[in-house]
Amino acid sequence: MLVFLSWMILCVLLGSEASPISCYNDGGDATDWFYIYKLPKEHGRKSPIAGEMYLLLENGSEGWTEGKGSLNDTTGALGRTVGQLYSQGKNTEVAYILYNDQEPSEDFGAKLVENGESRAGHTKGVLLLDKNQGFWLVHSTPLFPATQKTGQYYYPSSGVINGQNFICVTYPLDAFQTIGEQLQINEPNVYDCNIPESLASLLPALADVCRKHLSSQIVPRVKLASNRSVTLTSQGGTNFISFAKGALFDDDLYHAWVAPTLKSDLLVQFWIRSRGILPSNCSLGWKVLDITRINPGDTFTFKASQDHSKWAVSPKAAGHKSGGGWVCVGDINRNEAEEKRGGGTVCLQDPVVWKAYRTAALECEACGGGTVQC
Ligand SMILES: *[C@@H]1O[C@H](CO)[C@@H](O)[C@H](O)[C@H]1NC(C)=O
Ligand SMILES: *[C@@H]1O[C@H](CO)[C@@H](O)[C@H](O)[C@H]1NC(C)=O
Ligand SMILES: *[C@@H]1O[C@H](CO)[C@@H](O)[C@H](O)[C@H]1NC(C)=O
Ligand SMILES: *[C@@H]1O[C@H](CO)[C@@H](O)[C@H](O)[C@H]1NC(C)=O
Repeated sequence: MLVFLSWMILCVLLGSEASPISCYNDGGDATDWFYIYKLPKEHGRKSPIAGEMYLLLENGSEGWTEGKGSLNDTTGALGRTVGQLYSQGKNTEVAYILYNDQEPSEDFGAKLVENGESRAGHTKGVLLLDKNQGFWLVHSTPLFPATQKTGQYYYPSSGVINGQNFICVTYPLDAFQTIGEQLQINEPNVYDCNIPESLASLLPALADVCRKHLSSQIVPRVKLASNRSVTLTSQGGTNFISFAKGALFDDDLYHAWVAPTLKSDLLVQFWIRSRGILPSNCSLGWKVLDITRINPGDTFTFKASQDHSKWAVSPKAAGHKSGGGWVCVGDINRNEAEEKRGGGTVCLQDPVVWKAYRTAALECEACGGGTVQC
């Protein structure tokens, strides 16, 4: 009995040691970062998991790999990663923030309401961390994820029909103060959060983002920048650039800011079924083209109108004289209304990630109209 008990205790100790709060892959291993491309529901496809299939790309992999099963599985990369929110439920030393301009409502079968008139950020994400580290997941899925008290992970039906993207990065504790400052600029619609005292004192910006949500409206505070880009270094030492803008920015994220900052032309995938979409724009020295046809990982070809994800890729590889090799995944579309909404994108210059996204972009809208090969 004593042997059994000490074995149990050892398992619990090792278990908590061996399971840091992190992004996880399909095999259940902690991973420094991953990208998920949730494919749209293929027309005429009868598979029971059509619309829940995905491609995965993580640190160390050589390109997109087919996701294991459905995105709804609790044992897949997204289920394991976001599932920590529910499994860590009783742990009072864990902080989290869930934000989404299209928040899940209390009951299942929620109506999908585009928060079109809102001045809050057009931005979606999940943060979960403890005193050591955690992850920041930026994504495009409406009504996702369910609040912590729901008790378990699931992928909502609102995210099935269209393509969606997810970028998860594992960060050390101190990065979360910077991420909190980026979110202050974004003014996200926070619908569930908790920052325990022990972490609030270390991460005042994150605590402010959560407090603003709890205090229902108008907390007077210092005037914030309308936009800021910062380098965020992952737990494993990879540098990402976070671009965050607020309502005051009042311009196109990609053409006015990301392209000139990265010194790169950009091909941009976004939700073209929104109102007032911006045409491709080749002025001011940077070509920013709207993608019209996509085929990630040589799966199948679909139209941008079937894809709700928001990403951008340099047309040229890194090393090209005008910069290149960038991939950005975020939450802002190229449309008039979102020039005046908070939101942003997270960029990485990595040859494998670049190739994975670059080869996905097939056709683009030319500047001045018409369709061209991207
Ligand atoms: C990916 O990240 C995980 C977690 O940080 C790490 O253990 C692993 O060694 C990394 N793999 C590669 C190939 O870099
Ligand atoms: C996800 O799984 C849950 C539990 O098995 C199920 O009730 C739900 O219908 C599934 N959702 C989707 C979108 O497949
Ligand atoms: C804000 O965006 C402008 C481009 O519109 C850029 O020139 C400026 O450097 C950005 N500010 C910060 C703090 O990143
Ligand atoms: C391209 O961007 C410039 C600078 O923001 C803007 O003045 C112009 O109207 C845009 N052109 C098109 C076709 O949208």
